[in-house]
Amino acid sequence: MWEKVWDHHKIAYGGDYNPEQWPEETWEEDMRLLALAHVDILTLNVFSWALLQPSEEEYRFEKLDKIMELAKKHHMKVCLATSTAAHPAWMARKYPEVLRTDFRGIKRKFGARHNSCPNSLVYRKYSVRLAQKLAERYADDENLIAWHISNEYGGECYCENCEKAFRVWLKKRYQTLEALNRAWNTSFWGHTFYDWEEIVLPDHRTEHIDEEQTTAQTISIDYRRFNSDSLMECFRLEYDAVKKHTPDIPITTNLMGTYKVLDYRKWGASMDFISWDNYPSNEDSFSKTALNHDLMRGIGGGKPFVLMEQTPSQQNWQPFNALKRPGVMRLWSYQAIAHGSDAVMFFQMKRSVGSCEKYHGAVISHAGHENTRVFREVSQLGEELERLGGEILGSRGTAQAALMFDWENWWAVEYSAGPSVSLKYLDEIMKYYTALHTQNIPVDLIGEEDDLSKYKLVIAPVLYMTKPGVDQHIREFIRHGGTFLTTFFSGYVDESDLVILGGYPGRLRDILGIWVEETDALPDTKRNRFLYGGQEYSAELLCDIIHLEGAQSLAEYQEDFYANTAAVTCNSFGEGNAYYVGTRSEEAFYSRIVREICQQQQLKPAAEVPSGVEAVERFRDKEHYLFLLNHKEEAEQITVSKDCQDLLAGIDYQAEEQFELPAKGVAILKWMERS
Ligand code: GLA
Ligand code: ZN
Repeated sequence: MWEKVWDHHKIAYGGDYNPEQWPEETWEEDMRLLALAHVDILTLNVFSWALLQPSEEEYRFEKLDKIMELAKKHHMKVCLATSTAAHPAWMARKYPEVLRTDFRGIKRKFGARHNSCPNSLVYRKYSVRLAQKLAERYADDENLIAWHISNEYGGECYCENCEKAFRVWLKKRYQTLEALNRAWNTSFWGHTFYDWEEIVLPDHRTEHIDEEQTTAQTISIDYRRFNSDSLMECFRLEYDAVKKHTPDIPITTNLMGTYKVLDYRKWGASMDFISWDNYPSNEDSFSKTALNHDLMRGIGGGKPFVLMEQTPSQQNWQPFNALKRPGVMRLWSYQAIAHGSDAVMFFQMKRSVGSCEKYHGAVISHAGHENTRVFREVSQLGEELERLGGEILGSRGTAQAALMFDWENWWAVEYSAGPSVSLKYLDEIMKYYTALHTQNIPVDLIGEEDDLSKYKLVIAPVLYMTKPGVDQHIREFIRHGGTFLTTFFSGYVDESDLVILGGYPGRLRDILGIWVEETDALPDTKRNRFLYGGQEYSAELLCDIIHLEGAQSLAEYQEDFYANTAAVTCNSFGEGNAYYVGTRSEEAFYSRIVREICQQQQLKPAAEVPSGVEAVERFRDKEHYLFLLNHKEEAEQITVSKDCQDLLAGIDYQAEEQFELPAKGVAILKWMERS
């Protein structure tokens, strides 16, 4: 009943290991150290294409055979990568078409990684062939438990091959040039196309002012859709190649959370399980990391996922690569598990001796022994996860609140010329997510098209692009008693970024019971204010000037020519309610409105705990796991609500008993739910 991501008896522990970068005589000592750290899974072969295929005709697997044997001998399972995220130098020389052309139109030469044109037939042919050969060779290796296709797909290509492929993609989407001209609004600035061959990619040479600004939004949004699809096709081709030989081994590729370039919602649907790489900086809030975990769980339909990479200590690519403070690696590992991960994996097992990742954190440092702080912390966590055994594995969370997060909407919001350069989709999402999360209200990150019926509350900040049918979904949800909340800059355009005529917020107008006549954009230094429930809050960024068409005003602006008009409204619709927040405000406001709505709708926090302590639940049949994560610098007193056991400390508590959760400490309280 409870779906596992792969066949493993406990939370998997390990990560990227690159023995091919080292002399063989060092491998046994690595194994001794990794076993000491309780590592039981290795991600192998991530960047080995040049080693595996030294020339067009020749494949060599002897070294990988030895590495696979090494893992087996030391009882470590393998997540095997296909190595296709960096093509070999000979390929670039012989077939320059595999190289990408960048946004400025500059054709790249061989170098770096994630450098292959996704529409190069040569790249596709050889990447698929390599994946297939690997699958054939290791199909019967019982140590192999997952496939890791390529690595962190991403970036763009603006080469001639991509341009041709774009035209093919467009023909499929629009069928006729008339339909395309209509969707792209080409009568503006005399862009009408009379031949498919006239269409070029939107880049620095054509429609773009810079990467963020385009003069033709729909073309640029379509390019983003196309680019995401092109890379996904590369993934799918390799997926099919390995699936044929190993139908029972689950397949993934490592994603990157809120990565703008790829529409992960689409990707999620074609992966066997979701895995992702978590690299927060020390300054990031714990809610931001939680949002990424929830988003990644969401695109996998709520199933457990895999934390494929995190650093055991520092990174190498930030301007200032701070250390993870003592206890923080453990805390963030449990945060991943709390939000649905069934694995804790690192980049990397061993620091390389040269190139740009030699100072990236690793389990085995350059000192080469176990007497380091980082090694001790890694090995203590490994031991703890071993003690947990099969607990938690496969369990899931349940949420009654949902937050809509949509990639196409994100692209459209930020390409939009006006109303404000300071409007950033993630910022607005974060405001609502943080309000829910810091109150420990479980939340699912869902897509525009997802089923809403299982939720009591759906929040859709800046729902600018309302795709066909989405308003109907929302309408039905509210009609049947749901509570909906949306904000300024919502309901404006359709899936082609064409304005829905008749007044904002378009098809959401009857649902929200308002008409937004105009929107004022405030520079970053300027504020208006509004009064909400006797308290004054700031109005920033955008201020909608709202006419009530059935809705009730909950707050009014205090300044300017629109003083005393509505800033926040609520409309009762069917058996439910639709809230509209017509301006950006401050944390205290979000926290308050979310608290009030949750109280009315009886949405309960996972636990009543001091602020700064994160509480998250997972369930498996009757087993109930409550994770308490203290992100603060001070210890906190926790009062337990039920008889339970702290799985990590091995202590039994009775209802109402108190215990101290140390700074950066974690408790996992378990009890059995009576049926
Ligand atoms: C990414 C990559 C890894 C490594 C790490 C470094 O997540 O997948 O190969 O480069 O970053 O942080
Ligand atoms: Zn290309």
